[in-house]
Amino acid sequence: MEQELAALQLEAEAAIAQITLLEGLNELRVKYLGKKGLLTASLRNMGALSAEERPRVGQIVNTVRDVIESQLAAKEEQLRLAALASRLAQETIDVTLPGRTFIKGNVHPLSQVQEEIEQIFLGMGFTIAEGPEIETDYYNFEALNIPKDHPAREMQDSFYITEEILLRTHTSPVQIRAMEKLVPSLPVKLICPGKVFRKDDDATHSPMFHQVEGLVVDKGISLADLKGILLEFARQMFGPERQIRLRPSFFPFTEPSAEVDVSCMLCGGSGCRICKGSGWIEILGSGMVHPNVLKMGGYDSEELTGFAFGMGVERIAMLKYGIDDMRYLYDNDLRFLKQF
Ligand code: DAH
Repeated sequence: MEQELAALQLEAEAAIAQITLLEGLNELRVKYLGKKGLLTASLRNMGALSAEERPRVGQIVNTVRDVIESQLAAKEEQLRLAALASRLAQETIDVTLPGRTFIKGNVHPLSQVQEEIEQIFLGMGFTIAEGPEIETDYYNFEALNIPKDHPAREMQDSFYITEEILLRTHTSPVQIRAMEKLVPSLPVKLICPGKVFRKDDDATHSPMFHQVEGLVVDKGISLADLKGILLEFARQMFGPERQIRLRPSFFPFTEPSAEVDVSCMLCGGSGCRICKGSGWIEILGSGMVHPNVLKMGGYDSEELTGFAFGMGVERIAMLKYGIDDMRYLYDNDLRFLKQF
């Protein structure tokens, strides 16, 4: 039996030495070491041996197996290296081939500007409030002191769902909703960004657009506070050189009311095409909160005062980036969007 094993080892070694392909190696592994392989078969014959002989022959079987296994492994390594070397000899890699570009999206310019507006006001201690886009006549008009005969309340100017429910035409109703929620705590100091809807559609009007509303209510709030906050906003948004001016205006929910103009970001105020020669550009509406509106929100209109403002995000974005047609903001044309 010992001789048989020695012969088996020699035969296996010779066979391994002759192999030139990796596939052949596996066949040999099965032939000698597999379940039905030759070495396993000789193990089975151990039953015929005497008890003293068995451990010694068992050792020999183990040694033969180790030898065959290590020879198989060595051969495998050798064949792999040879295969790799021949592939490297044939293959050429063009290291100048440009890589595949990974297309990365970016935040829409309107969202960027809205976020920037939010950041500026958060930095001045405002919080952010939200309200529904589908609003009742009460919050959108009535509670804001807007009379029944106001043109915005006409069916042809706003999107009505029923006579009492419509798509909000401005973010101002959030003033009332926020006050109802906060009363009696002070100060009220918040902005409300969001979508608004009007029956308008041309180069500077879209049936859906975005506004950011602002509301501050506390003891002793004055027009000076309004001007200070909005000047700081204009400078952070359009540059530290900017000035603002307040022009008398009218809104039913503020008294007095003012349009706020910012000194032209293009010419600095000397007059140009963008500001139509005036040096000023209108950016938002504002005013001191009307006592009726404070009352509607549940606050004491004798003790407290406040200011409010509302701006169009599209308008701010168009001024900031020199966009001359609002429709670019909604066309989803990548040639436009990729510039931001
Ligand atoms: N709601 C007005 C609009 O949509 C904008 C506005 C003006 C809001 C004056 C205000 C304000 O809060 O005080 O045209």
